[in-house]
Amino acid sequence: MAFDKIIVDISDDIATITLNRPDALNALNSDLLSELCMALEEADASDKVRCIIITGSEKAFAAGADISDMASKSFVEMYTSRYFENESDRFNRIRKPIIAAVAGYALGGGCELAMMCDFIIAADNAKFGQPEINLGVIAGLGGTQRLTRFVGKSKSMDMHLTGRFMDAEEAERCGLVSRVVPVKKLMSETRAAAEKIAEKSQIAAIAAKDAVDRAYETTLAEGLNYERRLFNSLFATEDQTEGMAAFLEKREAQFRDR
Ligand code: HXC
Repeated sequence: MAFDKIIVDISDDIATITLNRPDALNALNSDLLSELCMALEEADASDKVRCIIITGSEKAFAAGADISDMASKSFVEMYTSRYFENESDRFNRIRKPIIAAVAGYALGGGCELAMMCDFIIAADNAKFGQPEINLGVIAGLGGTQRLTRFVGKSKSMDMHLTGRFMDAEEAERCGLVSRVVPVKKLMSETRAAAEKIAEKSQIAAIAAKDAVDRAYETTLAEGLNYERRLFNSLFATEDQTEGMAAFLEKREAQFRDR
């Protein structure tokens, strides 16, 4: 389907979704988020896609939720419309791996969107922040919860209370991003990571994502149990047989997602 606020490219098993509101530094509004959810759901259901990349421009991944859209809203409107709640739930139901390729500003809802992805590859010009406090509000798309789990209480409090930005080097040091690459290489490096993921058994990739995500939702004992059950269940797949046989026969595995 044709989109207006995003650009979707599907090639070589990878769907790349580029946020495309350059005049507003990719600020998130309902149109953009519903297009993003639609594209993600299509990619999740497509046999042609094995990994998804979400990116923005060199200047901004996304500078937050659209302030001009929110400015005149009342408590009742925000509360009853469940602002961005549905989109957030739809995003969280995507099972295929999603990488955020972040250059420039990832602020407020933009930082939260990046954190909703499975991992973040940052360009060396990336700037992360939760500056909602400067607008008289706080994060509303998971920032207080996810950033705290990524970087710990002290730094999360610092970010949410002062509204300061964190550069890519600090973001890597504190575990917010998995790696930092030169801005000009952001897409090629992210694509290389996506290609690596696309080579794997899709069943194992989905199980790995599911198990890691479980770590955020439960106790260690329950999480270990969950992982063990998933691990054992993968022995019912042809891909396990193939993967282990290929290792023993010193050849590349040919996974068939069965
Ligand atoms: C609407 C935005 C925007 C935003 C930037 N723009 N951020 N529009 N919502 N979040 C627009 C500007 O109004 C401007 O439009 C154009 O993008 C370029 O921005 P400038 O400010 O001129 O650029 P620059 O001086 O380079 O500064 C970049 C910036 C700054 C530091 C990123 O734009 C900024 O501070 N933006 C707001 C960041 C923020 O507070 N985000 C949190 C939002 S609240 P014009 O038409 O003037 O050219 C949030 C809550 C999420 O995210 C929870 C939801 C449930």
